[in-house]
Amino acid sequence: MNVYDGQKMADLLKPHGYALTEIPDDADVAILNTCHIREKAEHKVFSDLGRLQVVKKNRKDSGDNDHDMIIAVGGCVGQAEGEEITRQAPYVNMVFGPQSYHRLPEMLAQVEQKVKGKRRKVIDTEFPTISKFDSLPKSDETPISAFLSIQEGCDKFCHFCVVPYTRGAEYSRPAKAILDEAKHLLKIGAKEITLLGQNVNGYHGQGLDGSEWSLGRLIYALAELDGLKRIRYTTSHPLDMHEELYNAHRDVEMLMPFLHLPVQSGSDRILDAMNRKHNVAEYLNIIEKLRNARPDIGFSSDFIVGYPGETTADHQATLELVKNIGYAQAYSFKYSPRPGTPASILQTQVPDDIKSSRLAELQDLINIQQLKFNQLMIGRTLEVLFDRDGKLPGQVLGKTPYMQSVTLDGDSSLFGNLLRVNIKHGHGNSLSGERI
Ligand code: 5AD
Ligand code: SF4
Repeated sequence: MNVYDGQKMADLLKPHGYALTEIPDDADVAILNTCHIREKAEHKVFSDLGRLQVVKKNRKDSGDNDHDMIIAVGGCVGQAEGEEITRQAPYVNMVFGPQSYHRLPEMLAQVEQKVKGKRRKVIDTEFPTISKFDSLPKSDETPISAFLSIQEGCDKFCHFCVVPYTRGAEYSRPAKAILDEAKHLLKIGAKEITLLGQNVNGYHGQGLDGSEWSLGRLIYALAELDGLKRIRYTTSHPLDMHEELYNAHRDVEMLMPFLHLPVQSGSDRILDAMNRKHNVAEYLNIIEKLRNARPDIGFSSDFIVGYPGETTADHQATLELVKNIGYAQAYSFKYSPRPGTPASILQTQVPDDIKSSRLAELQDLINIQQLKFNQLMIGRTLEVLFDRDGKLPGQVLGKTPYMQSVTLDGDSSLFGNLLRVNIKHGHGNSLSGERI
């Protein structure tokens, strides 16, 4: 979602004369679009700010006072920390949250004006009542595989998570706005669309007929659009799986047979403590329903190890669940206490060395499963959407339906087409084969 937001920020600033640059030293404005989900991500913001401060200082020391760098912190750290950021890093000019970035041009105009040679500071962490989506411009460019935000925010309040506080309450965009944006993305070259939301399958926006549409219903409508080759959605919550969505997995061929469905833990006791509102048996039941709807479906998940009070037996239960499901891939994290969340003040915090060893054990298992899953592809013919240059000259890179990377000899004339590749090798992180 930060990638999507970042693209939109660039789109917003383009009419005001700003273009993207890869080199911080070239920039008039540097925006850090930040993440608050774990402490590590937050630390990164402050170390990146330190680096930008040096660039800003060097420019000042060189006497270039007309182009002093404006530094902004956007995203969820901006939302959560607000003014505290300018206290810790006084050289930061602007702080804003994920719900107010549509006001970037106005904020920037305010900061650009100097009063007695000094820039004003702008802090905007409001949750506006009018959706920011109504104020976002259309993009001029799109990757072949494009993101489209359809839902934002979260009302679930898992006890470890800051998202409900930083992204705010659940909001679903109307289907018309989503379909219009999808049509535009297809017109400018997208072939694959990934629908985004913190609880994307909790989508319940106004439909074209005025009734409330579910994500399943929306996917059926998207599948009608000319030129669209693949649909994905992320991230889902088990509680929001629904009949129309199972049916879409059964009926809509271009809905990819791959689902990221975070479970966080394989222990009912921990799921309950996390306030996930479902147990392991219910999760397994959802997986079974999805497999019935689309037998070739692959799964991915998120796991947290070392949640407060997690015992060795709870951890073993997580390993058992992973073994039971056989994930195509999965992400796993050490529990990170986040300010303002109920879990952060529990007295039963797990020591870091135990978290580290549990994480290593889980990741070893996940890596083995991923390699196995990739090796299962050997001898199969998979459709691959090539969309970018490979690491070596003369190579292109694409993705299978299961998000595995495939490298092939070729050039950009292959981009945007679904090509059939006979898979010869399955590695830990990629596949290779021959084009048919
Ligand atoms: N500590 C560790 N991991 C977390 N996640 C969310 N909050 C925390 C936290 N406090 C993980 C969850 C979620 C993913 C996006 O980040 O696994 O699904
Ligand atoms: Fe965070 Fe997802 Fe739980 Fe919402 S459902 S609180 S975003 S982990």
